Amino acid sequence: MSENNLPKGVSFVTENGLEALRVETDLCTGLVYRNGAHVAEWTPRGAEPVLWMSGSSEFTDGKAIRGGIPICLPWFGPGRDGNHSPAHGFARISPWTLTSADVSDSGEARLVFVLTGDEVEQLADFPSDFTASYAVTMGSALQLSLTLTAGEQALDFEEALHTYFAVGDAREVRIQGLDGADYLDKVAGDRKSQSGDVTFSQETDRVYESVSTCRIIDKQLGRSIVIEKVGSANTVVWNPWVAKSAAMADFGDDEWTQMCCVETVNALGAAVEVEPGRSHTMAATISID
Ligand code: BG6
Repeated sequence: MSENNLPKGVSFVTENGLEALRVETDLCTGLVYRNGAHVAEWTPRGAEPVLWMSGSSEFTDGKAIRGGIPICLPWFGPGRDGNHSPAHGFARISPWTLTSADVSDSGEARLVFVLTGDEVEQLADFPSDFTASYAVTMGSALQLSLTLTAGEQALDFEEALHTYFAVGDAREVRIQGLDGADYLDKVAGDRKSQSGDVTFSQETDRVYESVSTCRIIDKQLGRSIVIEKVGSANTVVWNPWVAKSAAMADFGDDEWTQMCCVETVNALGAAVEVEPGRSHTMAATISID
């Protein structure tokens, strides 16, 4: 699409040296980088930013952006065999193409990005004839819908909307919605069952088996963030805490207090299989109250 086709409220910009789409409507402001179709900002009018971005993020085409919503696809982390590269798949570092942009009368902006195998440098062993489509609808809520369609070969993949949320203090927030869910504790390397709300008191990296809505209760910022999802069997909760933050070059040493990730995911035993010519959609709706 060219600048001429864009509706009022959506414009092409260069932000931190990267091509991006800026959204400014009556309902919200937002920013989506073409690199990774990466939603870096969504702020409803009158609210504080909902998504967290690191002040130490790299902004280079072909490199992962730290914060916002990286799309992990078609594998999560190093993949199920532990050997896949790049980490979290190629989607977050590939150049997605904007195929449509609309703004409703009320000010809800809908952007659709597409990625096909032709645009991917590091396919690893993934079939090249897939189509990934990502619809981002920004208004008073943020709706994200990721569809993967198989070509002639079946697809077998993991996926995540790796959402970084801005919080007043990670040590003070509570995450509701996972009580009773079984999870893989990637820090301890064992399996557990959640009892009550999730809170952060150490490095936390968990893959929950859960289709439920989550709510981040943030008393310091005086708000809750609600994450509803469809087509997702896992919720990943991540906070790197002190040592891991210090070890990451693109993450400020003290920034872990200001963020937590509650991710909409299909991974490990919940990896998705799609027959030739068929599609699968995973979607999340994020809102604040
Ligand atoms: C989380 C994973 O989703 O992403 C963690 O569960 C990982 O294990 C984190 O450390 C960040 O990954 P990356 O590749 O963006 O540094």
